[in-house]
Amino acid sequence: MKKYFLYFSILGFTFYSCSKKSTGEAAVTPPVVAPDTILYKMMPFPMGASVSASLLKTNTKYYDVAKKEFNSITAENAMKFATVHASQNSFNFTDADYIVSFAQANNQRVHGHTLNWYQSLPAWVTNFAGDSLAWEDLLKTHIQTVVSHFKGKVVSWDVVNELFEDDGKVRNSIWVQKLGPDYIARCFTYAHQADPDALLFYNDYGHEYSAAKRAAIIDMVMNLKNRGIPIHGIGLQFHTTYNETDANISAAINAAAATGLKVHISELDVRVNVNKLPAFVFTSSLAEQQAAKYKFIVKTYKAIPTAQQFGITTWNVGDADSWIPAWQNAPDFPLPFDGSYARKPAYASIIEGAK
Ligand code: XIL
Repeated sequence: MKKYFLYFSILGFTFYSCSKKSTGEAAVTPPVVAPDTILYKMMPFPMGASVSASLLKTNTKYYDVAKKEFNSITAENAMKFATVHASQNSFNFTDADYIVSFAQANNQRVHGHTLNWYQSLPAWVTNFAGDSLAWEDLLKTHIQTVVSHFKGKVVSWDVVNELFEDDGKVRNSIWVQKLGPDYIARCFTYAHQADPDALLFYNDYGHEYSAAKRAAIIDMVMNLKNRGIPIHGIGLQFHTTYNETDANISAAINAAAATGLKVHISELDVRVNVNKLPAFVFTSSLAEQQAAKYKFIVKTYKAIPTAQQFGITTWNVGDADSWIPAWQNAPDFPLPFDGSYARKPAYASIIEGAK
């Protein structure tokens, strides 16, 4: 009897895994949380997600999860230069305003992303022919128009995003070419003038995997702080992998905390298809390893001084919404919710890490 039971169980399990494998998403161990759990209520710091206005408008499951599970919201793209300032003499805040209204209706904090970046620039900027004074005016007008528009609604901004290359050198962006590397200090000053109450962040990726980049970021941030430039926080994007070392993750979080500034894990996702296989299968074992990495990140973050814990934000909500497959040109499953918004093991382990 026992023998047959075992036989049928193995057979059944094999059928199950095979049928799931063909979709790319294998069976994963269900997380051990009560169905009525609300993620942000389990966390000692704000828990956020970036969102897309079009997904909020078209996908009710997405809308419901974004509303229920998080108490901080970042616009994934809706506040970027190319979206709000696509032509020189007009601003369009339609999608950004929609996201802000969504967050306000749900008592969620709004973190602004991003005032200055080398990407998401419209052609009128990349082709702009002015001298350095005209470039300075362009920069200042953009920052101050956007910050003023959201004054009192957006509590914090990623002022400058991704200044550095992975080797720690300043990226030769159009801003650096036109205005020199210290233009970033003026970005903070301009933002502060437009909204003196807003918390201002420097945001970047790679703190965990490049010690050279991490050191360059910390030096730059300390330099701004010591000069009295209004900078209040450091954003660690953390587009990371399930097999990033715990030592690297600790080094990144603890170095940021040592600045004394607020620390935001600002764009968290943990990819699993590190070899970019086109027919990748997300197994239960990988789901568990991914969950363990989420837990370690949360646990390490929770150990920094409470006053510096600005929060953790995942980069979008469910696996089907993630930017990772397009960026990596390969399937991936990097977020705490799956493609149908079911909670993955990572969801439960985020809560475990915060205990
Ligand atoms: C990404 C978005 O997720 C994509 O939808 C978009 O096509 C490109 O930008 N670092 C950042 C984010 O600061 O703004 C980026 O977001 C991901 C990397």
